[in-house]
Amino acid sequence: MQKIPSSEITPEHIYLNRRQFMKTAGVAASAALLAACGVKTSPETPTSDASGSAAEPMEEGAEVAGQEMTDELGDAANSFEEITNYNNYYEFTFDKEGVAPLAEDYPTSPWEVEVGGLVNNPTTFTMEDILSQFDQEERIYRLRCVEGWSMVIPWEGFALSKLLDVVEPTSAAQFVQFQTVLDPENMPGQNSGWYSWPYIEGLRLDEAMNDLTLLATGLYGKQLLPQNGAPIRLVVPWKYGFKSAKSIVRIDLVDAMPENFWKIANPREYGFYANVNPEVPHPRWSQASERRIGELGRRPTLMFNGYEEEVAYLYEGMNLRANF
Ligand code: MTE
Repeated sequence: MQKIPSSEITPEHIYLNRRQFMKTAGVAASAALLAACGVKTSPETPTSDASGSAAEPMEEGAEVAGQEMTDELGDAANSFEEITNYNNYYEFTFDKEGVAPLAEDYPTSPWEVEVGGLVNNPTTFTMEDILSQFDQEERIYRLRCVEGWSMVIPWEGFALSKLLDVVEPTSAAQFVQFQTVLDPENMPGQNSGWYSWPYIEGLRLDEAMNDLTLLATGLYGKQLLPQNGAPIRLVVPWKYGFKSAKSIVRIDLVDAMPENFWKIANPREYGFYANVNPEVPHPRWSQASERRIGELGRRPTLMFNGYEEEVAYLYEGMNLRANF
């Protein structure tokens, strides 16, 4: 099977974005798929063979290109249809297959990201600024949901560190807080009183500066669809998927550990660090294995989701059970 070199993939979202970002937003998504992370009820437990009862991986129609791209471990990328039809995006709904149709027409342009807090150069970036200022590159990452499923996703984006270098964190900055869009009129899930909106997340500054930490603007060479967090979302591949906040509107450098959405919802079950760790079970299920969307069996979960070499130094001497 031949791999498609990144250079041959048309960076469609980049030229579209530079010229007419708004007009093309909202590419239609099709096909129906599965569901994802951080569910309070009925998680896809590894102990249950009937996991994903309502939703089964797509067996047919996988994009040919997807099958030909692999991550650095040789695992095939999931298809565009899988990635765009099996989503966790509680602002719309907790039904993973229901996100894409509900989010389809969500307006993601114009869009700005305000970056401030403990920085020397607070800056408000438009999406056009972001796409012209930061070269977009392809990163094929595994995404492991805390619920026990995973995908391989060919993102387009740029290292968060590049944006942080521009705003220059001061010496007092120790953490980065991400705030995502608050729009209850257009996001039906935000009318639910169950959760604390907007969805917020955080990283330690050294985690944020790690080269793996990505701000994604596209996937498969196309601009992100709303269901995947258009127009810009975080991707932290060694952490459970809930850390990878979608549709970011504000980034603040702060001196104290930020709160995060799932920890606020259930601090006994979800922590700040959320590093993928097969040895630390979720209180209600094991994290030792996972189901790759599109596969039938389960596969072992890798420490730090397979990125141990790149990130283990960040946690030297830390108790990873206590700091879950
Ligand atoms: N970001 C926001 N704003 N809202 C969400 O509900 N869900 C998270 C994360 N980012 C979520 C979010 C979870 S639990 C996962 S697993 C990933 O998004 C899923 O990303 P994907 O749908 O693009 O695969």
